[in-house]
Amino acid sequence: MEVIIRSTEEEGSLLAAKIIERQVRDKARSVLGLATGRTPLNLYKNLIRLHQERGLNFSQTVTFNLDEYVGLGPDNPNSYYSFMHENFFKHINIDLQNTHIPNGFDPDLRTACNRYEAQIKEAGGIDLQLLGLGSNGHIGFNEPTGSLMSRTWLKILSRQTMKDNATFFESPGQVPSHVITMGIGTILESEWCLLLAFGEGKAQAVTQMIEGPVTSICPASALQLHPRVTVILDEPSAAGLKLAHHYRWIDSQKLEWQRYD
Ligand code: F6R
Repeated sequence: MEVIIRSTEEEGSLLAAKIIERQVRDKARSVLGLATGRTPLNLYKNLIRLHQERGLNFSQTVTFNLDEYVGLGPDNPNSYYSFMHENFFKHINIDLQNTHIPNGFDPDLRTACNRYEAQIKEAGGIDLQLLGLGSNGHIGFNEPTGSLMSRTWLKILSRQTMKDNATFFESPGQVPSHVITMGIGTILESEWCLLLAFGEGKAQAVTQMIEGPVTSICPASALQLHPRVTVILDEPSAAGLKLAHHYRWIDSQKLEWQRYD
């Protein structure tokens, strides 16, 4: 894993935006895997600014979101469909036909999962998958002990995740317990994974993901098996890493063509 530690969340988010900017400028029809939640909000703001001020063109970009709550339709302000439109899509020149979010409102959820997998394949696979990290080590909504070979599937959220996500809802009782999420196997097939984790609340999961064993207790540790993963952290989320000095040294030794900024 390539581990990059920046002083603050703002700096980390800016770097992530530069990485995605380069991906989209290098390949107009990039297939991006996208995430929701608090973590990518600054990144999306930066990408919107790059679109508005530097003409970053998303007209050919194809996107697949990681996950969606079951039972929340597109009109529900807490659905990830609404999240993506409000926080990103409506501010850029993306063709909405090219955006994909799992359908948690489909009466046949299993078929919806299989269809999502087929759509990713039809698009040629994901070039760059953006990931956040759950405080319990989940990626997508692949909660601890789920299969590390999983494909897009229906999952039940852990109590911890429902608690973490409750702040987005009017009351904790409104948080749906079921979700559709890309599987770990689906995520691992992406060409490149870009994971962001900020704040001390993520420090334990970050340490387990990078320096712990590969285990379904920390689903994100499966990323150790992927040949191209970039992890961007801030100081608080990196606080538990034993080898932080080593990652900083590697980062400082990079050649011009290896650097993102
Ligand atoms: C969201 C997702 C989740 C979040 C994770 C972190 O689409 O797949 O894995 O990335 O729960 O959430 P935040 O960013 O709110 O801390």
